Amino acid sequence: MIKLENVKKVYQDGTEAVKGVTFEIKEGELCVLLGPSGCGKTTTMKMINRLIPITEGHIYIDGTDNREMDENELRREMGYAIQEIGLFPHMTVGENIATVPTLKKWSDEEKKERARNLLNLMGMDPDEFIDKYPSELSGGQRQRVGVARSLGADPPIMLMDEPFGAIDPITRDRLQDEFLKIQNEIQKTIVFVTHDINEAIKMGDKVALLKEGKLIQYSQPAELLAAPKNRFVRDFVGSDRTLKSLRLMKVDEAMKESPRVVKEDQDLESVGRIMEEEGVNYLIVVENGNKLKGWINREDVEETGQGKVTDAMVTDTGAAEIGTNLADALTVMLERDVANIPVVDGNNSLRGLLTFNDLQGLIGETYTESGGKHPEVPR
Ligand SMILES: Nc1ncnc2c1ncn2[C@@H]1O[C@H](COP(=O)(O)OP(=O)(O)OP(=O)(O)O)[C@@H](O)[C@H]1O
Ligand SMILES: [Mg+2]
Repeated sequence: MIKLENVKKVYQDGTEAVKGVTFEIKEGELCVLLGPSGCGKTTTMKMINRLIPITEGHIYIDGTDNREMDENELRREMGYAIQEIGLFPHMTVGENIATVPTLKKWSDEEKKERARNLLNLMGMDPDEFIDKYPSELSGGQRQRVGVARSLGADPPIMLMDEPFGAIDPITRDRLQDEFLKIQNEIQKTIVFVTHDINEAIKMGDKVALLKEGKLIQYSQPAELLAAPKNRFVRDFVGSDRTLKSLRLMKVDEAMKESPRVVKEDQDLESVGRIMEEEGVNYLIVVENGNKLKGWINREDVEETGQGKVTDAMVTDTGAAEIGTNLADALTVMLERDVANIPVVDGNNSLRGLLTFNDLQGLIGETYTESGGKHPEVPR
């Protein structure tokens, strides 16, 4: 656990970069430091491993004041990926990644294996890259090696300063996904700096939003979006915060489970009766075993009259897979111009039904929640 207690930093020239910041990062949590350029993110992070001395206040690592810890030990125990990448130019990629393992006196084999694994993890072919020098890499590749290096000796705490900043959006998105998957398994305590709100809400268990050296709001991403504390936060998260919060929720949380279904070989008369009874204009069609087959609409039932479901059903239906976020599900609805989509699992078995009405309800909640809790600046 990392605990910052009234931490201040005044640089020699008198710049007050951090003005009394207090918050706590729990073990295994990824905490994002977010805020505009110059707000003190890097300074705050560098005080954690004492690359920058603290002016006032305390930072505790698992209960110990970091000023009482050996400086070298402190840095060895914390993986560090810095904003300017900072690879050693005279060392190969493999040697760079093995920096801390070397300090820890791992064997050559162990170091090599570790470097190869981490390169694979970062989507870089070890055979191609391990013996190259930093000058032979692109900016994004250097940055990935920087992240690999910070993971080098499997440290319990990771400090990452804009680790994906120099990477193109598509690769960045992939690396973020990969990194989240890894983090799910390794559960490191991570301090992650970014000025990108989308990256913050995607990556963070918690987000600390800073402004001019002060902590403005410290909360879970969903809460930051739903209940921004003041106008600065609201402006920073942006006017599309509703869409952003939809991105944080999964279809599983919003769908109706066990929607009414009919089978392919059912006759249309009985389907018509079910629609009548239920007061609905459509039903989902499944085959035996609950695999999604399509939709059947009331109009088509009435037009076709006699026959089986297969004679009147629509097979080309969109669907959202379990785990899809609500923003993507909404996109499918809008693209197909439908008000409902079935939710399926990886085997195309029907798991639920997501309706546009339910989504609207959720969007409404986001608004009333923020309006209700913070009525001071209605917008
Ligand atoms: N060595 C230094 N001496 C004096 N002032 C400094 C020094 N380093 C940083 N500052 C100032 O402290 C403030 C915070 O800087 P910091 O690097 O922590 O910002 P940041 O939030 O990381 O910004 P960015 O998003 O641009 O990286 C800024 O006003 C900066 O100019
Ligand atoms: Mg910075």
